[in-house]
Amino acid sequence: MNRLLEIKDLSVVFDTPDGSVKAVNNISLDVDRGECLAIVGESGSGKSQTFLTAMGLLADNGRSAGIINLNGSDLLNMQRNDLNKLRGNRIAMIFQDPMTALTPHMKVGEQIREVLDHHQGLGKKAACEIIREMFNKVNIPEPDRRMEMYPHELSGGLRQRVMIAMALICKPDVIIADEPTTALDVTVQAQIMDLLNEIKTEIGAAIILITHDLGVVAGIADRVAVMYAGSIVESGEVFDIFYNTKHPYTLGLLNCSLSLEKKIDFLEAIDGHPPNPNNLPNGCPFNPRCKNVRDICREEKPEIKIKKQNHSSACHFELGVK
Ligand SMILES: Nc1ncnc2c1ncn2[C@@H]1O[C@H](COP(=O)(O)OP(=O)(O)OP(=O)(O)O)[C@@H](O)[C@H]1O
Ligand code: SF4
Ligand SMILES: [Mg+2]
Repeated sequence: MNRLLEIKDLSVVFDTPDGSVKAVNNISLDVDRGECLAIVGESGSGKSQTFLTAMGLLADNGRSAGIINLNGSDLLNMQRNDLNKLRGNRIAMIFQDPMTALTPHMKVGEQIREVLDHHQGLGKKAACEIIREMFNKVNIPEPDRRMEMYPHELSGGLRQRVMIAMALICKPDVIIADEPTTALDVTVQAQIMDLLNEIKTEIGAAIILITHDLGVVAGIADRVAVMYAGSIVESGEVFDIFYNTKHPYTLGLLNCSLSLEKKIDFLEAIDGHPPNPNNLPNGCPFNPRCKNVRDICREEKPEIKIKKQNHSSACHFELGVK
């Protein structure tokens, strides 16, 4: 059976004066209704570009190849008009910085009304009623007063909630949340994560949660895909990622995550930096930083392979097996 959103063999390359930047390299993943897939990896690993491509928001110097299928619609080869009908309606994105999505000089109520008008042709009265309900759902107090405010008049936490309300207003099938809480303080972060969890259950949407911190995914994700240098290096159910870790990079991320108690002591943290995507190392892209590296790792790139049902990893070796 087809999954709600399926990405197959997606590659994204940027043309720059310094050569081609391979931001995403042949990745495949999928997500279904009522499910949360977390995409985890360090800065520059290709998390955002994967899903900006799905939203048709790739920069002008970017090229993509592969398949992105949303419920039978081929997002990569769709006419701009048709994509505009899906975007915000069937697939929506929540950004790290609300100002990416909000227009500074428009009252927030008006902005959300525009979305409802564009996708559902709703008049002002009906739209206000729906916005009021949505503001209540995302815990924005005094919804009528807030609708009349400009983005800069709201606190960071409220701006983030307004953007979430805007993303949810048409009850999309897929919600992509790209580092939705990084700019917020810890209490508000927890509230926003609780909110996403509720949405997953209540609306039955598929949620893709992009983050660099494995610690935040424990309470919300069903499955996790770990990205490194544009490739998925491990994917599986959240329990397996945490407790049956297969890839040395994932293990490093787990150890880096402050919110997790340290469970393994032989790889304390990840030394070094991710590689430059226009000059990836030969063999396994993680080899310059890997404490388990052996000769073959510098020669052959390991393919991602199923190690156990629903659990895949791209490493020549089994962790812990010498
Ligand atoms: N327009 C562009 N031209 C050239 N390179 C680009 C462009 N946009 C993104 N990149 C590069 O693509 C790579 C992947 O970027 P991406 O934004 O997907 O990373 P990310 O995993 O989301 O990182 P972060 O956690 O910092 O948001 C990075 O090396 C980035 O510099
Ligand atoms: S293939 Fe080699 S370098 Fe890459 S993660 Fe596995 S052990 Fe480390
Ligand atoms: Mg990003």
